[in-house]
Amino acid sequence: MAGYSDILQEHFKNPRNVGEMEDADGVGRVGDPTCGDYVVIWIKVRDEHISEIKFKCLGCPAAIGTTSIFCEMVRGMHVDRAAELSDEVLEEAAGGLPEEKRHCSNLAPGALYDAIVNYVTREVAKSARTGGGKV
Ligand code: FES
Repeated sequence: MAGYSDILQEHFKNPRNVGEMEDADGVGRVGDPTCGDYVVIWIKVRDEHISEIKFKCLGCPAAIGTTSIFCEMVRGMHVDRAAELSDEVLEEAAGGLPEEKRHCSNLAPGALYDAIVNYVTREVAKSARTGGGKV
């Protein structure tokens, strides 16, 4: 695994938060059409913070490792802050990536953003059904 940092290699070998979530508050997916790699992220949200997170990744070591690192980074974070995290922030947290693997750090932030949009959409629908209130 030449070119990968120790932290990335460790997360690839022992990825955290792998799995699916039956009762998620939001689910997001993103794929890279150029390489075919794919990530799904499930979140639970309490008081607008990510309380639980799970992921599945069909992808390369960099995609799996960065998604594992990202899930650890955002657990406990406010959804607004988590939605703003960029692939550059993740790449830095992963100790950098070889040039040809830099696109692999796009997947987790994209899937999480999609999961947060899904969560907000569900909250808006719930609020509309119950006659309004805070979203
Ligand atoms: Fe495409 Fe890693 S090779 S995400």
